[in-house]
Formats: sequence, structure tokens, C-alpha cells
Amino acid sequence: MSNTIIDNLFKNLIEMETNLSGLYLVLSTRSKGPTSAAFKKISMDSMNHGETLRLIKNELARNISFSIADSELLEITERSKEISDQTKRVIGELKDTNKVDEHALIQLNKLELCEDDALEIYLKFHKSCILSDDQKKIVPMLIEGIINDEKEHSKLLQII
Ligand SMILES: [Fe+2]
Repeated sequence: MSNTIIDNLFKNLIEMETNLSGLYLVLSTRSKGPTSAAFKKISMDSMNHGETLRLIKNELARNISFSIADSELLEITERSKEISDQTKRVIGELKDTNKVDEHALIQLNKLELCEDDALEIYLKFHKSCILSDDQKKIVPMLIEGIINDEKEHSKLLQII
């Protein structure tokens, strides 16, 4: 397990959450009422996820290196980078329009898939915490919180 792989993994995950947060903030400002509130909530949650990852990175890295193969970590890194790129593309496309139009809503379907992918990544991390010898419960609990948020995001995006 090289530090470069772990560092790169977290760098990309934090970037992914930051990009998602930025996108949902734009969507929140372009919509009204409950829809705007839902986007705003997802934006703030995503920002928190990035911050949580930054703070638990070292602790979580130990659990991850215990139970996830390097090849799989590289795959997760690659996937989170793809989600970031996809998110940046949608932000770019939104700049060309004044409101959340039909096109932007089509893009939301792709984001729904992004949320599902992010959920899968965090489920793997949670499993790695459970498998590790680490008896501290705080890291798995924080990951559980992120997982619950991602599930909620996915549901909200389905009905928006
Ligand atoms: Fe997230």
C-alpha cells in the first residue's frame, strides 16, 4: 500500500464532493421552494462529506489498507475523478442557460447515477472499517452518516 495511492484517492474523493457541492448550489439558486431547499441540502451535505473525509483520512486509510486491494483503490480513484469531470461538465452546461431547463434536468439523471456510485464507494469504506481491528467506533459511524446522506440524495434526485 503506497501513500501515493491513498493520498490520490482522498484528494479525488474530496474534490468530487466539493464539485458536487458547487453544482447543487448552482441548481439551488436556479430553482424555487422545496426543490431549491433539496438542492441546497444536498450541496451542504456534500461539502460536509468532503470535510469529514479530510478529517478522518488518516484513520480511515489504516482500515482501507487493511482490507481493500490497491487495484480496487485505483478504480475508486478513477471513478471519483470521472464523477468530478461529469459534474464540471454539467456546471459548464448550466452556465449557458438562466434556469434549470429540460436539458439540465436530463443531466440530473446522470447525477443520480453519480450519487449511486459515491454511495457504493462509501459502502466499501464502511465494510473496511468493520473488517479492521480498529475498535474505535467514530470512523464507521461518520461513514454511516455519509452513506445515509447519499441514499437520501439519490431518493431526492429521483423525485425532483
Ligand atoms: Fe456525498
